Amino acid sequence: MRVLSVASECAPLVKTGGLADVAGALPAALRAEGIEMRTILPGYPAVMAALEAGAVQVMAEDRLFGGTARLLAGHAAGLDLFVIDAPHLYMREGSIYLGADGNDWSDNPQRFAALSLMAARIGAEGVTIDGQGWQPDLLHCHDWQAGFVPDYLAQMGGRCATVLTIHNIAFQGLTGHHMIERLGLPRSRFHAEGFEYYGQLSALKAGLMRADRLTTVSPTYAAELMRPEFGMGLDGVMRARRRDLSGILNGIDESAWNPATDPNIAEPYRHPSGKTASRDALRAEMGLPQSSGPLCCVVSRLTEQKGLDLLLEALPALLERGGQLALLGSGDRGLEEAFREAAREDGVAVRIGYDEALSHRLIAGADAILVPSRFEPCGLTQLYGLRYGTIPLVALTGGLADTVINASPAALDRGVATGLQFHPVSADPLAVALGRLCDLYAEPDTWARMQANAMSQPVGWASSARAYAALYRDAIAPA
Ligand code: ADP
Ligand code: GLC
Repeated sequence: MRVLSVASECAPLVKTGGLADVAGALPAALRAEGIEMRTILPGYPAVMAALEAGAVQVMAEDRLFGGTARLLAGHAAGLDLFVIDAPHLYMREGSIYLGADGNDWSDNPQRFAALSLMAARIGAEGVTIDGQGWQPDLLHCHDWQAGFVPDYLAQMGGRCATVLTIHNIAFQGLTGHHMIERLGLPRSRFHAEGFEYYGQLSALKAGLMRADRLTTVSPTYAAELMRPEFGMGLDGVMRARRRDLSGILNGIDESAWNPATDPNIAEPYRHPSGKTASRDALRAEMGLPQSSGPLCCVVSRLTEQKGLDLLLEALPALLERGGQLALLGSGDRGLEEAFREAAREDGVAVRIGYDEALSHRLIAGADAILVPSRFEPCGLTQLYGLRYGTIPLVALTGGLADTVINASPAALDRGVATGLQFHPVSADPLAVALGRLCDLYAEPDTWARMQANAMSQPVGWASSARAYAALYRDAIAPA
């Protein structure tokens, strides 16, 4: 089976969040299932620079939304890629989504329609790479940036199957309906059953209405998406397509995130007791003194979604018990400023920025990782925490609900707890949970048991790769 994965970011080449990790990990995970996956990416500077020698042109477009484009087939970082070399769309410095003013690039609709259009062409026509034909049986589209794939494919008369995965329904790719013709889409589909969304054009809705199958990245988020509190205006669409919707949990890259071999940390460890060296090194690096309470970390985008404003409010509950906070994050200017301010307190250390190596040192050295998200389709950092014996304290939502076993009295009694969950997602319940965390930390045997449980929980791709393979087979040849 051949699958083309259509993504706007892909680790390790270009990453702003978990979507990149997932797009980067899927091909290897699916290889074990006998699936040959290639990934199509925009030719951003980092992608063009990483492309190994020997890439070949497999298609050309004279007019791709205002310029000429070449489709290249090649390899980079162990990935089999198609790369759209279209400098007028992708060759710019800075964020892949935002201009220097912090707003979306004004031509984002064209930039990602181009990604969708080229993917659909590969699906409809196939390509020849070094004399060998390659045509996918299925197009696996990720988020709104790939939302128009099924529409373009239908226009071209292409027959391959389509799956759309929702990583985050907050991003929908909305634009004015005057763009319909400019994007080469049929106005006949500008209605409620097509890609119209309250008078605007919605790339995500286009895909949600037309892909053969829909998935999201956890079973709980799949159920939440059908409710108005989480559907962000698309819950009705999700309900209408509930038979085609499933939730498949993300895994993590177990070779990059392995406490026994991690080259980024003070001393690799197999057993949670071995994290002492990494914890001491982390305290020293972050300028935190020794303390009797748990050292908690956060590695996160700083946005409304992540609920970190609630953590600012609840923080005294941790600090007054001798707990500490070390945070790495960037995003919303107001939150960045508020955390810089919080770092004046004893026991709080903050680094604003994006730093892959520091993220490993934090997760390896901390006792606990905090993820108080208002919604979280899957979440990866709590999974890293489990693997490193770093106890996750999470909001009871989305993938956080599916991956952590709360330290309820019953779970503690049976010795199966791996972390803590709180609900509803607001500051007071979070403060209570931070207090519970400190209580558990003060019981070394209980804490050690939780760490051991956490470290033995499977967080890799094996079972989810099987689930995707089964889904692909079913989408290609429905039972
Ligand atoms: P989301 O995709 O919503 O941001 P995830 O938990 O799925 O949330 O994925 C976030 C990914 O980005 C993780 O791999 C996390 O380690 C990484 N990350 C987030 N912020 C930073 C940062 N400031 N520095 C380094 N890595 C970060
Ligand atoms: C999104 C979600 C996150 C998820 C990631 C990868 O960015 O916010 O919860 O883990 O996609 O699927």
